[in-house]
This record gives sequence, structure tokens and C-alpha cells, in this order.
Amino acid sequence: MNSAPRRGRELARMISRWTASTEPQAPEDPLETAESFERARLAAEAWYREAYPTGLPPMELDAAPRWTEAEIAAFLERAAPRPGDPDVGRAVFEAAGCAACHAVGSTPAGDPLGFGPDLAGVAERLSRAELLAAILAPSRVVSDQYRASIALTKDERLFEGFVTVRDADGIELRTLGGESVRIDSDELESLGPSTRSPMPEGLLESRTLEEIRDLFAYLKEGRGSAGARVWAPLFGNSGLKGWDGDSAVWSLRGGLLSGRSQGLAQSSYALAPLPDRDLCVEFDVFLPPGANSGLAYRARRRDRDPEPLADPSGFQADLGQSHWGSLYVDGRGTVARPDPAALEAALDRRGWNHVLVRFRGEAHSMEINGLETYSAQVSAPEGALFGFQVHQGKPMQVRIANARWRTP
Ligand code: HEC
Repeated sequence: MNSAPRRGRELARMISRWTASTEPQAPEDPLETAESFERARLAAEAWYREAYPTGLPPMELDAAPRWTEAEIAAFLERAAPRPGDPDVGRAVFEAAGCAACHAVGSTPAGDPLGFGPDLAGVAERLSRAELLAAILAPSRVVSDQYRASIALTKDERLFEGFVTVRDADGIELRTLGGESVRIDSDELESLGPSTRSPMPEGLLESRTLEEIRDLFAYLKEGRGSAGARVWAPLFGNSGLKGWDGDSAVWSLRGGLLSGRSQGLAQSSYALAPLPDRDLCVEFDVFLPPGANSGLAYRARRRDRDPEPLADPSGFQADLGQSHWGSLYVDGRGTVARPDPAALEAALDRRGWNHVLVRFRGEAHSMEINGLETYSAQVSAPEGALFGFQVHQGKPMQVRIANARWRTP
């Protein structure tokens, strides 16, 4: 049997799932022939045009990126010349729960349970990739010294932890939850090594790439001082107040900002007052091919605009198409742009990308997935707003997730 009908049936199944209907293909029309396949294709196209007149697929608002181990490794590799902030890293170390099990050298963070090894010097001992694997997938390599035991009792209770006492009468176990359990010999069914690390998986799941970079800087330095300039969310309940934008284009749900246009005569912005003249902003962005956006900052509304939020003046860290990673200054055009080959190697044109924009005094820089796309000294007239753009022109969408700021 050739594979076209099979592909046709696959397609039919997909279409009926998307459209939540069994039309346009009934089960008795299994698309075995070229004609019936063509009929189904045309019907699907017609349905799509009707459902999405702008040609844009539906947007899942709660879809935020999860970075894979390979993506985080590539990010850390590119960002290596610009290490993170160990002070912030220490705060991440505590917030992510690492301090419950690990001390770091002579400055024990918190009050470790003593489960894990001291991490002083770990960044010298392990390569960056090994360190990342040790944190993201602790069970991949577990040293015997830290291997927990699993005890099963005759009444089928299971305990995982470290044996602290073992005598003729039985054992005592310190569980991974930190409790002490006594199991008498006649209650114990079996005792064996655990195959997984006592260190939990997924501890960095809700951390962003910048926090992971800061955590690595902390592990490298082995100490941190107080007064960390921690990241604060841009959106959401604890985010910055005062966001303003055309509600026909912009929506904010939880921590996700989405801009969606049916085609605009003039670019649309979601703007908020800058919390500080100097700022570091980081976020994850999703732009389908053809979309064009950017982070405008030190911007000011123009008096002459009929639409109050349109086209603010100032700086813009550009995103999309041929503009990814360049700095645009109102009245002067593009003043800095990345090396095209380096950009293409770092950029995911179909998926999420991670962006860091930093401006301090006259110094402006931008990173995409850890690649520094420009670092320039520029001064220009400034305002006190910043925010995201949906570019004028054809229908397009932009999604911004995990956006946060701190002083640089
Ligand atoms: C519940 C206790 C626990 C927590 C929480 C924990 N760890 Fe661990 N960690 C361990 C144990 C036990 C080991 C040793 C066994 C192993 O290698 O899996 C370990 C191993 C490691 C290693 C490898 C050390 C080496 O010398 O090879 C690193 C790095 C590490 N942890 C970092 C972290 C970081 C960073 C966090 C927070 C995101 C964290 N751990 C949270 C218990 C914990």
C-alpha cells in the first residue's frame, strides 16, 4: 500500500480533532483516492479560512516556554563571557531549596539537613555541562556515598532515606523528608539501594535562564553577600502597575503578555512607566515568522500623534525578521546590529527566544539566548516609558513570558 492514503487518514484525523467535528471526512470516505484527498484538503482550507480570517493560528495564552537541558547549556555557553551575579545566585540557591541540603564552603546557606555534599569548589571540579546535568537530572549520576536506601516493611510501607543505625534489632532511617524512623528486624521485609538521587528533580523548573546563570556564578564564586539586586516580575499580581495599551491588541493574563493585530496602520505599544532610568529587562519571546516587535525604552509619547500610545520616541531593542538583536533609535534608525552568522546560530526563528536588554547611562546592550548582539554607547533624547511593540503592517502576534526587571 502506498503511503499517501495513510497520510490522508492521518490528516483527516488531525483536521477532525482541530475542528472538533467529523466533517469534512466521514469514516466511510477514507481518502483512499487522490480525488477524495483533494476534496478533503479544499474543505479543510475553507474551514481554516473561515475560522481564522487573518490567517493566524489560534494562540494558547498559557503556553510559556520550558527550556531544555540543551537550550540552557547553549545559553550558558554563549553567555560565559558575561557571567551572572553571585549575589542574586545566592538568593536563587535559597529560594530553590538547595540550601536545605547543601552548604557552600564556610558560608553554610541556611541550615542544611546534611543530605547533600558541600558545593564549595563544585564549579571547578565539574564542567559546565556536568554541573547542569547534576542539577537538572540528579538521578543520572549518583555517587554511592549519597545513595539513599529503600526499606520495605512487611505491612508494605516504603521508606526512602539514609540508614543511621543498624543493629541486631533493626534499623533506624533518616527519611528524605528529614524524619527519623525505626524499623524492627521482624518488621523489615527488604532493604536495598535507591536508584534515584535523594536530590529532587525539577528544582529549576520555575527559574528563568538569568537565574540559572546567576546560580552558576554563585556556585563558581562559592560565596555571596547580602543586598542582592533581585529580579522582579514585570507583569502579573506582583508586577509593575500602570501598563497601558490598546485592549484590541494587547492582553495580559497571569504573567503572559500577548499582542495580536489584524493588521495595523500604526504600531501599537503596551507601555508602563520606567521604574528606573537604568534597567535590566529579561523575558522570553515568541514571534511567528513575519512578526515584528521590540522593547521600547526611555520612550516618550509624541504630542502630534492622534493615537496617544502610538509610536513613542526613544530607544528600541528590536525583535523579529531582519531586525532581531539590533538597536533602533528614534530619528537615527538602526545604530547597532549583530553579526548575522552568530545571530542565526543563536536564534530560534520558529520557537521561543530568551532576551536580555540592559541600559545604564549611555551604555546599551542586548543578548539573545546568551549571545550579545550589541553593546554600544549611545545618547539620545529620552522619556520615562518602556514597553512592547506590535509593529504596523500585516496581521501578526507576539507573546512575552517570564518578563522581569532589576537595576543593572
Ligand atoms: C533534598 C536534598 C537536596 C536538595 C534540595 C538539593 N540537592 Fe543537590 N544533591 C543532593 C544530594 C544527596 C547529592 C549527591 C547525590 C547526587 O549526586 O545525586 C546532590 C548533588 C548535587 C550536585 C553534584 C555535586 C557533586 O559533587 O557531584 C550539585 C551540583 C547539586 N547537588 C546542586 C544542587 C542545587 C543547585 C540545588 C538547588 C537547585 C540542589 N542541589 C538541591 C541533595 C539535594
